[in-house]
Amino acid sequence: MLKIIEKAKIEHNLTKSEIIVLLSDNSINDILYKAADSVRKEFVGDEVHLRGLIEFSNICKCSCKYCGLRKDNSKLERYRLSKEEIINFAKKASKYGYKTVVLQSGEDAYFSAEIIENIIKEIKKFDLAVTLSMGEKSFQEYKIYKNAGADRYLIRIETTDKNLYEQMHPNMSFENRLRCLDDLKKLNYEVGSGCLVGLPNQSIDSLADDILFFKKIDADMIGIGPFIPNPNTPLSEARGGSFELALKVMSITRLLMPTINIPATTAMETLNPNGRIIALQSGANVVMPNVTEGDYRRKYEIYPGKICVGDTPNQCWNCIGAKIESIGRTISNNYGFHKK
Ligand code: 5AD
Ligand code: FES
Repeated sequence: MLKIIEKAKIEHNLTKSEIIVLLSDNSINDILYKAADSVRKEFVGDEVHLRGLIEFSNICKCSCKYCGLRKDNSKLERYRLSKEEIINFAKKASKYGYKTVVLQSGEDAYFSAEIIENIIKEIKKFDLAVTLSMGEKSFQEYKIYKNAGADRYLIRIETTDKNLYEQMHPNMSFENRLRCLDDLKKLNYEVGSGCLVGLPNQSIDSLADDILFFKKIDADMIGIGPFIPNPNTPLSEARGGSFELALKVMSITRLLMPTINIPATTAMETLNPNGRIIALQSGANVVMPNVTEGDYRRKYEIYPGKICVGDTPNQCWNCIGAKIESIGRTISNNYGFHKK
């Protein structure tokens, strides 16, 4: 076991069966986390990149079984920010010191490529890197956003188990998800992907495939979080994922992809009150604090217990800033692009 971790630390390569061994044995967890932390330090340093998250619409045409924003969830109060509100939140984020904003939403057809194009062009005037996280679009739409100045796009594969993928995503296809990732690469985006850990019927075997998939597509960023059952979804009675397993998938991803950006995800902090700091000490180098204001935060309820729903952008900046400094890390003042 220790030999496998040593190999990963030096060669940044593991076979599927070696990954399965690491994922299946919990006696080596602390050694694994430490190894990922040292690879993180060596390749991406002590800087933590903060990305300001703007949750601009919780309206969604999809029915992902695990997600609170799914269209069939009639309990959720829906909202859509105006173009002016989105641009204003971005402007404020740049004043706090953010170098990147992430525009995230459900798959909301109201936002045409032209509207998004316009918003991106306005936000680029604030000297911010722009990351988009709005789901599956056509090549042409991705191209319009890119030409408008978008820098990065996040679209998790969620799981590489095609059967499970299709069970979890009614009326969606695994092939189209792959097509999106491929289009984004072709358009020269920095591409972020990732997976959920602990979906019903998800095997350790398929988590090993997920990690190898991230490497195969040469992702620039990988976000990994535990699945947290939402009472207003068909998976309300599911067991959900564990913090430890999600952390292990993240640490192994760091060992195999030493230079990429890896966020300490909000879902990790939801399961463990110190989850983001633990993640930052187990391979992560990015945090994505929410910069949406007011009641919208509470309404963007992908899963229950989401952190920071009652806080302001200012509180989050100070809170996470203090936590990062308390572990001897610094807040980056550059854009934090992936340096290969
Ligand atoms: N628990 C944890 N993460 C979830 N996501 C969606 N639903 C849940 C849930 N119930 C994640 C998906 C998506 C990201 C924005 O949120 O992985 O890509
Ligand atoms: Fe939002 Fe701590 S990061 S309150």
